[in-house]
Amino acid sequence: MSYTIPNELSSRKIHSGLDSLFEILKKSFQRPLFVVGKTSFAASGAEKIVRNMLGDVLNIHEVGGRLPEPPQPSRVQEIDELRPDCIVAIGGGHVIDTAKLLSICLGGKNRQWEEFKLECVSSLLPLLVVPTTAGSGSEATPFAVVYINGVKHSVEHSTLLPDHVFLEPRLVLTNPRSMALASGLDVISHCVESLLSPKATVQSSEIALSTVCSAVKSLPIFAQTGRLDAAEKLLWASNKAGQVIATTRTNVPHALSYFLTAQHGVPHGCSVALTLGSFVDLLSGATVNRDNELWSVNIKRLARVLEYSDPAGFGKWWRTFLSGLGVATSIASLGLQAVDAQIIARNVNLERLANSPVQLTQMDLERLFDD
Ligand SMILES: [Fe+2]
Repeated sequence: MSYTIPNELSSRKIHSGLDSLFEILKKSFQRPLFVVGKTSFAASGAEKIVRNMLGDVLNIHEVGGRLPEPPQPSRVQEIDELRPDCIVAIGGGHVIDTAKLLSICLGGKNRQWEEFKLECVSSLLPLLVVPTTAGSGSEATPFAVVYINGVKHSVEHSTLLPDHVFLEPRLVLTNPRSMALASGLDVISHCVESLLSPKATVQSSEIALSTVCSAVKSLPIFAQTGRLDAAEKLLWASNKAGQVIATTRTNVPHALSYFLTAQHGVPHGCSVALTLGSFVDLLSGATVNRDNELWSVNIKRLARVLEYSDPAGFGKWWRTFLSGLGVATSIASLGLQAVDAQIIARNVNLERLANSPVQLTQMDLERLFDD
């Protein structure tokens, strides 16, 4: 089964399962470069499937480390000499983002980070993506996150949207529980943050509301039982959530999250989850006389679809949801002694902060960490 993303952003193809990946590779490409996670390629079961179908002679670039960083120019040179005619990314958001950066370096001949000026990109290598986590939704966005000296940057261009995406839930089944939880929280956060974006559209809001419902039902089931049907729902939810943030961008909880992830190793989804509840509550107090603004209407719609009675009650509902999953709801419960809200707020990502529908002070940002 495959379908075309029905939004204004793209006409890229999404396929269910891996069968069509091998059909496309055999039909259209001779020298694919596989960009894979150093451990996840084997652990997810993807390596066995790929080698069974294509044999052992594969061009592989392994991605390790904790955060995506710019590809080394010498490695880009080595890969370029293999003359790949497409990139197949198999992994989580980190791997997919690295593949996107490589597609710029190889296709656009921009070898270094400083040269990632995308105005003059003519053609990048075709990008085929197989996510092995249900979280980042990077396979559905035209963004690539990259960390330079521990600081998060975002590369954005329509040509970074993968040409084909293959969703195979069996690859997600082996995710450790902690990774599955963090990834699932990222999916939910993408949906909620997109609903509160000034860039939200009627279409993005409809998709976000239905997707957040699916994700909040599937995540506890997947975390407790590891069932394939729950993994499949989460994988599709992750993709839909990626589609909506491609339109709306992420919001304040993401803006506050990167410091804890880069400097203290807090998993991305858990870091974002810390302030999601307080952020929605803060905005729900700012909705008076804003009924003509979609984000304000969306706060009430969110309460209806998640079935908590008070539209100002998202924070309470969210903390109960996190506690049920055994996820930290505060900086203190993460066990980070040397970090406080003031430090995090001072290091907020300004680009994502600018997506808030109301202007927030430094004090507002710090209060978002109150438990
Ligand atoms: Fe995220």
